[in-house]
Amino acid sequence: MNALAIAAPAKLNLALRVGKPDGTGYHPLASWMCTIALFDNLSIVREGPPGLRFTCDDPALPRDAGNLVLRAARELLTDARLGYAALSITLRKRIPSAAGLGGGSSDAAATLLGLNRLFELGFGREKLALIASALGSDVPFFLYGPSAYCRGRGERVSPLPAPSLARWALLVLAPFGLSTADVYRRFDDMALGTAESPELAEAQKLPDFSSRELLNVLSNDLEPAAFSLAPALSDLHATIERHLGRPVRMSGSGSTLFTLFDDPDEANRAAQRARDTLFGPRFAVVTLAPEVSDVGDPL
Ligand code: C5P
Repeated sequence: MNALAIAAPAKLNLALRVGKPDGTGYHPLASWMCTIALFDNLSIVREGPPGLRFTCDDPALPRDAGNLVLRAARELLTDARLGYAALSITLRKRIPSAAGLGGGSSDAAATLLGLNRLFELGFGREKLALIASALGSDVPFFLYGPSAYCRGRGERVSPLPAPSLARWALLVLAPFGLSTADVYRRFDDMALGTAESPELAEAQKLPDFSSRELLNVLSNDLEPAAFSLAPALSDLHATIERHLGRPVRMSGSGSTLFTLFDDPDEANRAAQRARDTLFGPRFAVVTLAPEVSDVGDPL
C-alpha cells in the first residue's frame, strides 16, 4: 500500500468532570466523549526522498513541535525503526482550533492509525494508545471512538455507547478560541475541582436518555473557569440558552458550546432561527457518532 486518506472526526465532551491537580499539575478527568460529523482529512503518501513532508491548508497551524501530526508521525516511525521513511502528509483542516473539539488530537490519532496501516506495522490499539497518551489527553479516545467513557488523564478509555435518542448536536462556534492550559490555570486559581478521582454518576444509564433528560444532567466542570477567562463566552452562553430555551453546554475547555436534539428537523430549525437572529458565532448541526461514510462539510 502506498497511499491512504483518513477522515479525522471532531469530538464533543458530552460530560466533563475535573478533579484537583495531581503532583505533576495535571487534572484527573471523567468524561463521556463522542465523535461528531465534522472532519479534518488526512492523506498520507509514500513518495519522494527520505523524510517527512507536511502541507496544510490552514496557515495558522504550527509547523514546529506544536504540530501534533508531525509529532505523532515521528514518534511512531521512531518506534517502528522507520526514521528514514519517505512520506508526504497533507492535512485539510475543517475542525476549528482551540475550540474544545479535539481537532489536533484527532489528527494525531488518525496519523498513528494511518501509518500503522500504511506500513503494515501490526501495532495493537494498546501499543498505539501508549504513544497517543504522550501526545495529548484526548488522543487515546480517538483510537477507540466513536463514544467512550474516558478517565485518568484521558488514557483510561472504557466503552460507553453513544446516545441512542439524542443523536444530533447544534454547535455554537464562538468567533474566538481558548487555550486549554489557560483554562486549567484559571480552574486552579478559582480553587475549583475537589474530587481526587472524579466519576460520572450512573454513566451506563446515560446513553438511553432523551436529549431533554440528558441536558438536565450533563455538566462541564471547566465552564466556570472558561467563562471567567472569557466573559464574552459567558455572555454568549447566556444569550444562546435564552434564545433556544434549552440547556447549552461547553465542550472540553471551550470555546464551542452545544445543545442536543432527538430530532434533526428541530435541530435544523433552531440553527436557522439562531443564524437569523444572532450575529458573531457560527451554527452547525452535526450527527453524533457518525458512520465514516457521513464525511461531510457542515461548515
Ligand atoms: O493534554 P493536552 O495537550 O490537551 O493539554 C493541554 C494543557 O492543558 C496541558 O499542558 C495542561 O496544562 C492542561 N491539562 C491539565 N489536565 C488535563 C488535561 C490538560 O492540566 N487533564
